[in-house]
Amino acid sequence: MVARVAVVGAGPSGLGQLHSFEAARRQGADIPEIVCFEKQSDWGGLWNYTWRAGLDERGEPVHSSMYRYLWSNGPKECLEFADYSFEEHFGQQIPSFPPREPLADYIRGRAQKSDGRKYIRFSTVVRSVSYDEASGKFTVVAQDLPLDRMLSEQFDHVVVATGHFAIPNVPYFDGIEQFPGRVMHSHDFRSAEEFVGKDLLVVGASYSAEDIGLQCKKYGARSVTFTYRTAAMGFRWPDGMEERPLLQRLEGRSAHFKDGSTAEIDAIILCTGYQHHFPFMEDSLRLRTRNRLYAPGLYKGVVWAANPKVMYLGMQDQWYTFTMFDAEAWFARDVVLGRIELPSEDEMRKDMAAWTAREEALETAYEMIDFQADYVRELVKYSDYPKFDIDLTVQEFKEWKKDKEKSIVTYRDKAFKSPVTGAMAPVHHTPWWEAMDDSMATFLASGEEAA
Ligand SMILES: Cc1cc2nc3c(=O)[nH]c(=O)nc-3n(C[C@H](O)[C@H](O)[C@H](O)COP(=O)(O)OP(=O)(O)OC[C@H]3O[C@@H](n4cnc5c(N)ncnc54)[C@H](O)[C@@H]3O)c2cc1C
Ligand SMILES: NC(=O)c1ccc[n+]([C@@H]2O[C@H](COP(=O)([O-])OP(=O)(O)OC[C@H]3O[C@@H](n4cnc5c(N)ncnc54)[C@H](OP(=O)(O)O)[C@@H]3O)[C@@H](O)[C@H]2O)c1
Repeated sequence: MVARVAVVGAGPSGLGQLHSFEAARRQGADIPEIVCFEKQSDWGGLWNYTWRAGLDERGEPVHSSMYRYLWSNGPKECLEFADYSFEEHFGQQIPSFPPREPLADYIRGRAQKSDGRKYIRFSTVVRSVSYDEASGKFTVVAQDLPLDRMLSEQFDHVVVATGHFAIPNVPYFDGIEQFPGRVMHSHDFRSAEEFVGKDLLVVGASYSAEDIGLQCKKYGARSVTFTYRTAAMGFRWPDGMEERPLLQRLEGRSAHFKDGSTAEIDAIILCTGYQHHFPFMEDSLRLRTRNRLYAPGLYKGVVWAANPKVMYLGMQDQWYTFTMFDAEAWFARDVVLGRIELPSEDEMRKDMAAWTAREEALETAYEMIDFQADYVRELVKYSDYPKFDIDLTVQEFKEWKKDKEKSIVTYRDKAFKSPVTGAMAPVHHTPWWEAMDDSMATFLASGEEAA
């Protein structure tokens, strides 16, 4: 009997998993039967932009949290696939901070190259995964959405690649139910144009807050007030943007902050993060974690130690993204193929404890970058994932972090060197603050064409 592997999700992580198996198959390996379940009608995960918010056309929660005018918030060089460079995809060098569309195109380009579609059942949502001790098999129940039919199948391994930035964390603030303006979570944010001329309150102090607040100002919001729970972001914001301690209550349009100050606001965007949410996994298989660099219960951040035939991809907080997902996918593949022998559960727990202790001692962002780079280095030791210059990516992440500290408005105007080809990226023809058109055509055009 050929073993069967269920992959749940065809975003960058799930596609990395399919690509890894296909790479082994093309090198002559016998691979199991792979079935990838994807609830959307197309691949790309969060990168698959939709204008919809809330529920989709079939009543399913909309997955994507991405919005118009989203540009990469880190240098593309730090996420470049080791076996598929940007240069290979675009046939030219491109600037370091692409908008969403070219990045989505890049992800799809590699998946097409390895003919990933043949493994995927689109518009099929996994409703439950359960394990039977006696047979050693998983039962996966999935719903074919167009046909509205439940399907039940048995698998030997399950890889969960459903992401963790799709189900919002929505806190409550006193008086919010009477607030007379728009209140939304960043998951539902689609366009800054809605906030032109408005005074905006943005709750949160991480990437969504920073990027959505800045973008709204760029496209014409009158003012943006950020409110933080733990620590201010501390950037030097353009005029009309400022940070305040945590919102305590709302009275009509007045926001009251912890330092006693107030502000009159028109709209609120809750950039308060997301929940790891796997309602389809049975209790004993379900990962429960907050957004952190080493999720509990996952050996090498991938293998569910309590049942190592279950694997999770991309569950960490993310400095590294696509290359880390690949490193995990290659590791998971080699566990399935029997190329990596797992130690005893006790040994796995000791290994996880050591990583967790190191994670808990991290203090600065620079230490976190080193930590995640070491994690990626550790994983790639086990498989034949192609070599790329991880030291260079560490250097580039740290430089990027410093660039942001210098100017949150201009950090995207820099260029970095590819850890895959060694080539230097060109500087983009238009400074990000002035680049209103985020289309792929304009991004890829030369300076003269774009003018
Ligand atoms: C607003 C925003 C901006 C970001 N910008 C960047 C950036 O600039 N650069 C960067 O590197 N990273 C960015 N990220 C990080 C992002 O997490 C990764 O780039 C990447 O999308 C994660 O890939 P994934 O495959 O793990 O998850 P996802 O991209 O979330 O894909 C998961 C897939 O699983 C499917 N799925 C979910 N549940 C089920 C189910 N029950 N059954 C079947 N299918 C299911 C979904 O439909 C989806 O296709 C951003 C994240 C957010 C929220
Ligand atoms: N390409 C881009 O430009 C872009 C744009 C947006 C997002 N992203 C990506 O999206 C991912 C998610 O980022 P995120 O910012 O949405 O989530 P996040 O990094 O998990 O941050 C969540 C934020 O919400 C705050 N928060 C949570 N509960 C709160 C409460 N009750 N009251 C006040 N604040 C609260 C947290 O504050 P504490 O600090 O107090 O915990 C934190 O600042 C990241 O990987 C990021 O890179 C990328």
